[in-house]
Amino acid sequence: MKEAIIKRESVRNFIKQPLTTDDTKFINEYIANEENQKGLFNDIKLNIIEMNIDGSNKIGTYGFVKNFSGIIFATIPNRQDYLIDYGFVLEKLVLELTRIGIGTCWLGGTFERKSLVSKYAEEGDIIPAIIVLGYQKNSRHLQERIIRMVAKPKKRLDVSKFTTVKNLNTFEDYSEEIEMLRLAPSASNKQPWRITVDDSIYFDIETKKNYEMFSKIDLGIGVSHFYLTAVENGKNINIVKDDNHILKIISVD
Ligand SMILES: Cc1cc2nc3c(=O)[nH]c(=O)nc-3n(C[C@H](O)[C@H](O)[C@H](O)COP(=O)(O)O)c2cc1C
Repeated sequence: MKEAIIKRESVRNFIKQPLTTDDTKFINEYIANEENQKGLFNDIKLNIIEMNIDGSNKIGTYGFVKNFSGIIFATIPNRQDYLIDYGFVLEKLVLELTRIGIGTCWLGGTFERKSLVSKYAEEGDIIPAIIVLGYQKNSRHLQERIIRMVAKPKKRLDVSKFTTVKNLNTFEDYSEEIEMLRLAPSASNKQPWRITVDDSIYFDIETKKNYEMFSKIDLGIGVSHFYLTAVENGKNINIVKDDNHILKIISVD
């Protein structure tokens, strides 16, 4: 997954083309597999809508994303643990799609939520964000260039800006996991995750006004990068809720 983490970037300009049969099959099998729906605390059941090439079932994105071939989303209760799981489960899929050459972009603001919610969500449930996906076009369109100027996607905080180190050994042991978390996407590139490295590693968020919901999704996304890197590095870790922080990572020997 490290390779996909490094390669991934938000794609907002796609080639007008349906998903290939192989890719549709891959995604359908992936989302039907219960293992892939498991969050840290709850299951997140994913849906895919493939776009008709004639544009008849289009989801509006206010011109910010062009010609995507499909969207993936889930409906969840509006609760912190579900929002964290939403980021965790969907980002793993984003990385799997990156691996097989499918471009993606998380959308939390620039999509028409209402019609999707009324069609798919049960009373009280939300669709906090969606993933648009498809085949990346080589050029960027104007709105994409503008959004990239505003969100400065390549810019990430230095590790020292979001990490408090209380135990240097733990920090050294997990430096690659923290670096992979640093590369995670977040709403408006706000990178709200804050971590305290002691004997265990604790996760918090620095929420900005109007980003309360997104920062919880962002935390789940960041934690998925951390977790998948740890697994790839052969570490056995447990992520649990914590009383004084939001999450705590415990290394299991
Ligand atoms: C929860 C979430 C919501 C997002 N919402 C939008 C959105 O509404 N419109 C958009 O163009 N990009 C959106 N993005 C993409 C971010 O702007 C992008 O991930 C960030 O700027 C970092 O750039 P990168 O993904 O290319 O690394 C969202 C990302 C996340 C994680």
